[in-house]
Amino acid sequence: MKKVEIKTQITVFDSIEELSNSVKNLMNKAIEAKQNAYAPYSNFKVGAAFLLEDGTIVTGNNQENAAYPSGICAERVAIWKVSSEYPNLKILKLAITASSSSQLTKEPVAPCGACRQTLSEYELKQKDKVEVYFMGEVGKVIKTNSILDLLPIAFDKSFL
Ligand code: THU
Repeated sequence: MKKVEIKTQITVFDSIEELSNSVKNLMNKAIEAKQNAYAPYSNFKVGAAFLLEDGTIVTGNNQENAAYPSGICAERVAIWKVSSEYPNLKILKLAITASSSSQLTKEPVAPCGACRQTLSEYELKQKDKVEVYFMGEVGKVIKTNSILDLLPIAFDKSFL
């Protein structure tokens, strides 16, 4: 028997102002995209924006449904737009932001587990890491160097 430690390095920025211009622009696109979220049940709006290798930015937001499980997260709306419209372009970066109507979201909002699994498929497919930046409505921004950094010991196609 042996114990194995798994380490992940994250970068914490004090605010969006500390980001490079390109990442700040991407986060601003996620903030813009969040406005169109359809979240009448949770009142929690999420925006996501992907930067592709040719400079294209693809955004998404959460879309809820009266049959709750039929709704979908912002990250999956955005990644499926990317994969359906630009299947051959590499994804460089992802920015995520969220806000609630009931409280100021000050802590960075990380993607849910199902989104991590979905996103990991495309990072593995392109064989290049995708930087992930996430924040709340205000305050800190967390960066991970890849999607798989958020999903250690992942399930992937090698098991099939
Ligand atoms: N949500 C996202 O869009 N992304 C996440 O990673 C976490 C949760 C959405 C789903 C639902 O519409 C609302 O936030 C509350 O869970």
